[in-house]
Amino acid sequence: MKIAILSNGNANYSTKRLVEEAEARGHEVKVIKYKNCYISLDEKHPEVFYKGKKLGKYDAIIPRISNNMTRYGCAIVRQFEMQGIWTASSSIAITRARDKLRAAQILTKAGVDSPKTFVSRNTTDIDALLDQIGLPVIIKLATGTHGNGVVLADTKKAAKSALQAFYLYNEDGTNILLQEYIKESAGTDIRAFVVGGKVVASMQRQSLDDDFRSNLHKGGNGKSIKLTDEEKKIAIRAAKAMGLHIAGVDIMRSTRGPLVLEVNASPGFGIERVTGRNVAAPIIEYVEHNATRKNSKDRVGA
Ligand SMILES: Nc1ncnc2c1ncn2[C@@H]1O[C@H](COP(=O)(O)OP(=O)(O)O)[C@@H](O)[C@H]1O
Ligand SMILES: [Mg+2]
Repeated sequence: MKIAILSNGNANYSTKRLVEEAEARGHEVKVIKYKNCYISLDEKHPEVFYKGKKLGKYDAIIPRISNNMTRYGCAIVRQFEMQGIWTASSSIAITRARDKLRAAQILTKAGVDSPKTFVSRNTTDIDALLDQIGLPVIIKLATGTHGNGVVLADTKKAAKSALQAFYLYNEDGTNILLQEYIKESAGTDIRAFVVGGKVVASMQRQSLDDDFRSNLHKGGNGKSIKLTDEEKKIAIRAAKAMGLHIAGVDIMRSTRGPLVLEVNASPGFGIERVTGRNVAAPIIEYVEHNATRKNSKDRVGA
């Protein structure tokens, strides 16, 4: 097959691993820096240009769109979709996953347990809201990543001043979520790597200091962990609800069972180093099995 990986380039570990596995299985792979792609909308056929030339035909694309390029990256993915090219992750699913509010709405509707979440822009109701959620409370930007934009407030006073600051410097209208604090799992969470409806690797992340955030980008530590059946099920269900066949599902262990925190559309492959599991190979296998199917359900329009 001819496969294109849309990413930030070959230097990226995840990209390198995907190329390795795809080539090992006899595929022709090209890494395309989607940031350098451009789109033409003035022809009969939707085209993607790269380095001044029209891109040739591919059987499949694997988007690895970074968080700070979601809009442009998804526009490029959409252009491939318009050409009828099969994509491992649809532009719609990636866009949904990048908005924590939209994701929480989808997960709740699908019956996937997650922390109690409230969203409001009315500052006069904050006291009542905080009474409902309890303290401490988590406040987070709907579009934050890597643990940035997540605040833990111990008191109503702290919560109010954090919210005020967020509202004030929130020029692009990002929604702000108020969330119950899952103290039982403070500083730890679980990453389940899901491919094609199966958990292919899982790890527990732990913050190194007393930070409540366990993100590896914040200096968190990862170790291999075996998931319970319930955790596996909720991870698979969350990925499915989001329409993501390749997903990193973040789960917190709480006294009322596993709660899904978020579903990542371009999960990092650092989990391979932590767990010794190969996650690139199942992705290429997934692409092989699905991209070649005619009239695949996964083919997405606009
Ligand atoms: N409701 C919560 N209760 C306890 N810890 C939380 C909660 N929400 C987030 N955290 C901690 O903060 C980290 C970052 O939050 P998350 O919502 O995943 O945002 P990001 O997209 O920035 O990673 C999580 O990995 C977790 O360790
Ligand atoms: Mg996270």
